[in-house]
Amino acid sequence: MARKPVTKVDIPSKVLSATQKFQPVVLTLPEAHPRQYELINAFDHNPGLRFIAGACGTKFGKTYGCTIRLVKEAWENPRSLNWWVAPTFDQSIIALNLVKRLIPQGMYVEYKADRRIVILNPDGSERSEIQFKSGDNPDSLRGFAVNFFIIDEAARIPYESYESVLTTVTQTRGRGIVISTPNGRNWFHQVYQWGEKFLANGAPRFLPHQTGCSKTKGCGCPNIDPHPEWMALRMPTAANPHVPRESIEEARLNFPERRFKQEYLAEFLDDSAGVFIKIYDCMRGTFEQPQEGSGYIIGVDLAKHEDWTVLMVMHRERKHVVAFERFNRIEWEVQYAKIKDMSDKYNRALCVIDSTGIGDPIVETLRNGGVPVEPYKISSNIAKRQLIEKTRVAIERGKISYPQIIPLLHELEHYSMEITPTGVVRYSAPDHEHDDCVIALCLATWLADTEPFVYKFSSRKGI
Ligand SMILES: Nc1ncnc2c1ncn2[C@@H]1O[C@H](COP(=O)(O)OP(=O)(O)OP(=O)(O)O)[C@@H](O)[C@H]1O
Ligand SMILES: [Mg+2]
Repeated sequence: MARKPVTKVDIPSKVLSATQKFQPVVLTLPEAHPRQYELINAFDHNPGLRFIAGACGTKFGKTYGCTIRLVKEAWENPRSLNWWVAPTFDQSIIALNLVKRLIPQGMYVEYKADRRIVILNPDGSERSEIQFKSGDNPDSLRGFAVNFFIIDEAARIPYESYESVLTTVTQTRGRGIVISTPNGRNWFHQVYQWGEKFLANGAPRFLPHQTGCSKTKGCGCPNIDPHPEWMALRMPTAANPHVPRESIEEARLNFPERRFKQEYLAEFLDDSAGVFIKIYDCMRGTFEQPQEGSGYIIGVDLAKHEDWTVLMVMHRERKHVVAFERFNRIEWEVQYAKIKDMSDKYNRALCVIDSTGIGDPIVETLRNGGVPVEPYKISSNIAKRQLIEKTRVAIERGKISYPQIIPLLHELEHYSMEITPTGVVRYSAPDHEHDDCVIALCLATWLADTEPFVYKFSSRKGI
């Protein structure tokens, strides 16, 4: 397949007023290599497509290719706001420098302090804008109306930042490319899966809507694509003709096999360092009000020092998290009142509380106040292991479910395991990370997962 220039686009003369006689300026973008072309131009061939998840090997040309698309979007769409989001500011500056090389001299102004570039019309007026962002602060990514975005090295950006970026295109119906080398099975893997439209054997994963269908949500057609706005593409490093073949072969010999598969073949590997896998397979449903006749359990992780108190309410039979509260007040009166209120609201739900340390007096107070409580002591490593491992298995087998609770998803993704030189397994959150949501979920799962008691007795006479 012959390589084609991505496009030649000119600023149309209709942007000029009648009295002005500026020449239209033509933007000539560099040639994309064939697989890069396929990726960055997928929007042009797939109406209805809004998001592309590109899993690509290192040096595939992710950054180079996406700057081409970004400049094209900004150039062609007057008054548009376009974003480049990378894990750090330093990384987004790499893209900024590439972008500057693509726009003709004199056709843009750079605002260095704000890390933004304004593209100009031939008469010098402002046409559109490109901003370069860091993904490390999700709050700084909210509140804008963005028309087009790139999230580069997406698998190294927290889930919350991705969510913030998506909120910016809700009103504009904007589009974007989420591109990365895989990094375990985190949210990037999830959106990649949404975009996969074919099974491994090449058969379509979904059926089209039935004829005459209104195509609205919940239309009832069987096995339709729940994420038609997503497309996934996987590209290995070797697809970049500008990377010498021998470098890839050297890497194959010098890297551990798993690492090579992830970095060069862009394969999603099981997250061996992480404790919980298939986290996103259990993310479904919504919060629910209490239902008459239903039993509920509340996993309670009490705040110690500067932590949070977390209440995780689980429907006992369906094992679905129906309510969640997280607050960082450590006065025990406040904690007591909130736990009691939640328990009362959910049909006098049974509260499972870590009773180590400050938990003991609270358990007593709640009991005296008529709240059903079951203490669980996480004081020993064995007790903690049992607690975590039960939930680990429950998630892996899809036995529990929870709505999209961002702090919970974040903690589950980052929760880690260490094996000491003597072979003892220790579970904990990494430094500077919380684990209160994980613990609250585990406490709720611990009891919810208990099979209903079956009273067994055997008679001494063997009857
Ligand atoms: N279409 C192209 N034309 C010429 N060179 C290209 C093209 N695409 C990529 N390259 C070159 O390939 C190399 C890798 O590109 P780039 O840095 O964009 O890859 P990447 O996938 O972002 O890599 P990394 O994994 O390091 O982030 C660079 O030297 C770049 O200039
Ligand atoms: Mg790059």
